[in-house]
Amino acid sequence: MKTIQQVIGEAANIFEKKFGALNNTHVGWSPGRVNLIGEYTDLNNGFVMPMTIDQGIAVLLRPRDDSKITTYTETLQDTAAFSLDTAEASRLPHWARYIFGVSTLSRKQGCELLGFDAVIHSNMSTNGGVSSSAAFCTATAMAIQSAASWTLKPQAMALLCQTVEHQFAGVMCGIMDQMACRLGKPDTAIFIDCASLEATPVPVPSNQAELLVIDSGVSRSLYESEYNTRRIECEEATKAIQALGHAVNDLRSVSDELFQSVEASLPDNLRKRCRHVISENERVLLARQALEASRLDEFGTLMYDSHHSLRVDFEVSVDELDQIVSSAETCSEVFGARLTGAGFGGNAIALIKPGTAEYATQIIAEQFEARFKRKPDIHHVSRPTQAQGYKFNA
Ligand code: GLA
Repeated sequence: MKTIQQVIGEAANIFEKKFGALNNTHVGWSPGRVNLIGEYTDLNNGFVMPMTIDQGIAVLLRPRDDSKITTYTETLQDTAAFSLDTAEASRLPHWARYIFGVSTLSRKQGCELLGFDAVIHSNMSTNGGVSSSAAFCTATAMAIQSAASWTLKPQAMALLCQTVEHQFAGVMCGIMDQMACRLGKPDTAIFIDCASLEATPVPVPSNQAELLVIDSGVSRSLYESEYNTRRIECEEATKAIQALGHAVNDLRSVSDELFQSVEASLPDNLRKRCRHVISENERVLLARQALEASRLDEFGTLMYDSHHSLRVDFEVSVDELDQIVSSAETCSEVFGARLTGAGFGGNAIALIKPGTAEYATQIIAEQFEARFKRKPDIHHVSRPTQAQGYKFNA
């Protein structure tokens, strides 16, 4: 896999060919993320524990003195050109809505940058699950911040990028991915309370555990519609519990005891969604304690429990992800495994004992190939990165 330096170097070459000189060009980089545990809890003001990886997205950008944006993505080999003053998101290619959204909202928040020429380049899997859209928004915002000498606090940048998803891409996501991309640091998970946005680092030293990211090869065709449906179901579950006379604001404030007293009154789908969110929040709290005390076997068991709950109660897994997780379970070198992110395809992760990546990869790949007649793409995370923005030194 290409390193961050290679991605930025290649982006600079492409930029020169497309747009000429690199003077006054700024770089934004954002890593993608995996979520160690805490899925679909951010939508319910709960707890999550993501960490950054070595795959990410670079945006190279040179300001212009008019409001025109011309941007090229090497991954999709596509160009979009539009005016920041008059463009409409619905008329732009889907990927360009993100760069338009970040620029528009930055301007609204006082950034004086006008238009720009930009190249986007990446070393990231595009099947989903490692947060490419949050990384794209964060990298764009980091580049704009550097070019415009304008600063947003990390939490505020995460919120801006989340608003782009809501208003420009139509995905009603939570705040986890944007917080992880902006605040994540190498070899460190972040425990985030999604109600207060308080973020606490929890080290994952590479001499204790390493990470595999396993691409199921299933692209998430249902992602946008089903994701929004899950969000609505969580809101409906909250309303149903309120209608039974309980003062709760969200599923985070539903205790286990309260859930047990109301579950029989809830429709089947809402009962299952609730059970996942409530149990997942508990698992994240336990997982944090386990990680802080280096009890990685216990942490791994919680990962498997999380996957089970996502498969059975939240119904967001697919056969390929289930297969990866069950193979991991047969391998004593793996502490734990689960789908990561929204599911419906995309990636799984496995937390493994140091030095066992090759062996664990072989076990998971062989069993996958025996069933699906193709090899999964398995990536051993080796040099995690963090978000950065700076002037390019040509
Ligand atoms: C996607 C969303 C996040 C979160 C996860 C599921 O990654 O962007 O906000 O809801 O799904 O945990």
